[in-house]
Amino acid sequence: MEKLLVSGGSRLSGSVRISGSKNSSLPILAATLLSEEPCIIHNVPDLSDTNYMVQILITLGAEAEMENGTVKVQAREISSQAPYDLVRKMRASVCVLGPMLARKGEAFVSLPGGCVIGDRPIDLHLRGLEALGADVEVKGGDIRVSAPEGLKGAKINMRGQYGSTVLGTDNVMMAAVFAEGTTIIESAAAEPEVEDLATFLNALGARIEGAGTPKIVIHGVESLSGAEHAVIPDRIEAGTFMIAGIIAGDGVELENVRSDHLTSLIDSLRGSGHTVNLQDGGTINVSASTDPKANEVTTEPYPGFPTDMQAQMCALYTTTSGISVITETVFPNRFMHVPELKRMGANINLKDSMAVIRGVDQLSAAPVMASDLRASAALVLAALGADGTTEINRLYHIDRGYENIDQKLRSLGAELHRVNG
Ligand code: UD1
Repeated sequence: MEKLLVSGGSRLSGSVRISGSKNSSLPILAATLLSEEPCIIHNVPDLSDTNYMVQILITLGAEAEMENGTVKVQAREISSQAPYDLVRKMRASVCVLGPMLARKGEAFVSLPGGCVIGDRPIDLHLRGLEALGADVEVKGGDIRVSAPEGLKGAKINMRGQYGSTVLGTDNVMMAAVFAEGTTIIESAAAEPEVEDLATFLNALGARIEGAGTPKIVIHGVESLSGAEHAVIPDRIEAGTFMIAGIIAGDGVELENVRSDHLTSLIDSLRGSGHTVNLQDGGTINVSASTDPKANEVTTEPYPGFPTDMQAQMCALYTTTSGISVITETVFPNRFMHVPELKRMGANINLKDSMAVIRGVDQLSAAPVMASDLRASAALVLAALGADGTTEINRLYHIDRGYENIDQKLRSLGAELHRVNG
């Protein structure tokens, strides 16, 4: 199994290009199942998750290939069955449910398992599909949804205990594309990735309004054509490199960024005194304050502070003097990075879904374990500023969501390499 060895203390500078969004690419690739015509998706990051989604499309019957960030898909005919062996490796594979139901009138998809960041139920997805008139049966770890007479437009509220659901909104929006009449999704997730999916669906000929706001209106259509689409830049990769630039940088530039998707993070970083300069043409420059202030963040659905940046922010606060507080409201148990950061000398007290972080002068290297995608990013960030060489195990987590992270960091001047063992 591969490990990453990160030598702390190198100063980062220069420019890095941000890849296309993983969380946009996955549902957009799933959405190609809605059309029989060719679809061409650009700016797809080369990650284990996106490659896996392409494999799922192929196994379901589509022709699909990925080359240099472009995926070409044509789903002339597809199966309505996605068994456990096909979907078990990636929770996001659940987003094939909506398009399969819409296209085939039925779908049989294995339930995704939980993961370390939480229980991750899909009750809201199923509630939405039921509201569109589908029969839903959950049995033996499998979900069968069927609507032999077709789906019918309805008014659906997608709010759950922890706020809106991103992939749940995507699933219901994709299912509703062919529903008879008009569907209104209230308390819809307003994440930029939901809006990007709707932009792609509209390019295929769907009639969706309001995506990117809490109210989405979908007027049913009878068929879709093909389309070409470029995925938006990855705001979480951008945010992660911004924090790398602050922890270990002497002025780092990010290219291909949508700064309007990063407002809450930029506000938090500026609130600590760091400099974030927005340039024209999607470029951001970051540099650290010499006297940063402790701060407080609470994760919330978009446009609030993203849960996917919480672990990285925690890494930043470990060496910000004073007491910073992070409250996690989206996945209340998402703190697997905390014990690992403590092994590196961080002073963090966890109480329920709140982390109280007392900044220390410097972290020190230790062997640590990546538990999930964003936790592994937090460990890399912490290691960049730590004294000594940190060994990060279970590296495969980071390859799910960061395209060439080691090459990109090396190009900025970081010292890190992969080893087997
Ligand atoms: C997506 C992102 C993930 C991000 C998350 C929250 C993708 C591929 N993944 O995941 O990176 O961390 O949004 O921004 O886009 N919930 C329910 N019932 C449901 C569905 C969700 O209770 O049916 C709960 C979840 O347990 C969680 C909260 O709602 O507490 C938000 O989850 P959700 O937005 O659905 O996350 P995903 O869409 O799976």
